[in-house]
Amino acid sequence: MAYLTEIDARHLMEEARLASENTYSPYSKFPVGAAVLTRNGNITRGCNVENASYGLTICAERIAIGNTLSMGIKDIVAIAVYTPVGPVPPCGACRQFIYEFGPDIVVVFNHGEEMLQKTISELLPFAFRF
Ligand code: THU
Repeated sequence: MAYLTEIDARHLMEEARLASENTYSPYSKFPVGAAVLTRNGNITRGCNVENASYGLTICAERIAIGNTLSMGIKDIVAIAVYTPVGPVPPCGACRQFIYEFGPDIVVVFNHGEEMLQKTISELLPFAFRF
C-alpha cells in the first residue's frame, strides 16, 4: 500500500477544492469537490450534483470517477474529497463505488485539523464484491 507524499496529497486536495467551486447543491447548500489521481498522473475533478428529486443527487466522488472512466482511464491511484463546510470522509455509497476500481486506492480527506490518508479497504472493510 502506498500513501501519497504530503506534497502530492495537498496538490490533489487543492484540485478537489477547485472542483467544489462548481458544486450544484442548492438544496443542501453543502458543496463537495473530489479529485481523482490516475497512474499516469492525470487528475480528474468532480463536484456534487443535486436534484429537486433529492434521492437523485450524485456525490462528488462518483462524478469524479465517472469523469475519469469516461476519458478511458481506469487505473485510479487516489481520490481526494473536499468541502469548505467541514471535514468529510466519503459516504458509504461512495466507498463501495471507489472500491470497485481497486482495494488499494488511497482516499485523502480532512478530519478535524488533519489531512488523513486511508486506503479504501481501510475505510470499507469486508467490501462487497463478486
Ligand atoms: N456528498 C458528496 O458529494 N459526497 C459524500 O461523500 C457525502 C455527501 C454530497 C451529497 C449532497 O449533495 C451533499 O453532499 C449533502 O449530503
